[in-house]
Amino acid sequence: MKKAFFTLTIFSLFLMGTAGPSFAGNYWDNWAEGKAKGPMPDCGVNVLPLGGDDILQETVDIYCGIKPGSYTSKINPKAMKAYKAQAKYYPDGKTAVLIFPSIDAVFATDHKNGKPIYNVLKISDGTSIASSEPGHPLNPETCAKCHASFDGVCVGYVCGNREIR
Ligand code: HEC
Repeated sequence: MKKAFFTLTIFSLFLMGTAGPSFAGNYWDNWAEGKAKGPMPDCGVNVLPLGGDDILQETVDIYCGIKPGSYTSKINPKAMKAYKAQAKYYPDGKTAVLIFPSIDAVFATDHKNGKPIYNVLKISDGTSIASSEPGHPLNPETCAKCHASFDGVCVGYVCGNREIR
């Protein structure tokens, strides 16, 4: 009897470890905050008089439709040196996330061999909700329009530490 109870306890511990409610947390939970943060204004708002720049205006125009709410960013401690130096090259691995709590989503940038990898993840279970539809705001190709071009505003494919011009 005692043994059966023991086995049951182990089994339920195992269940708790794998079932949804005890989702272990997100890889960025203990990272420090980056500079990118703020409210995402409603569609039609001009952010330039409010101290925003052209790329932020474009970001609002592309993402206001999904009503993403306020956001914060977090930077991997391993990437922090590059982030602070506004470096061109980031170390391989996870780089940064932009967190939108009210829509259960994060934008994620990783680096591999100096090149960026973009993704969109659900906060609640870490699964990807990136889109493969051409032109979709959550398609990684759309991320590149700002993070990899836009007059070179974002150095090293990271935007929040840019010089505001
Ligand atoms: C229209 C331009 C634009 C697009 C498209 C865009 N971003 Fe960004 N992203 C920005 C800007 C600007 C910031 C900084 C916001 C701020 O300064 O408050 C930023 C910040 C971030 C950050 C925080 C780290 C950093 O770079 O500062 C991540 C991570 C990120 N974006 C990933 C993505 C991903 C993934 C996508 C595609 C799903 C995407 N972005 C699409 C412009 C864009």
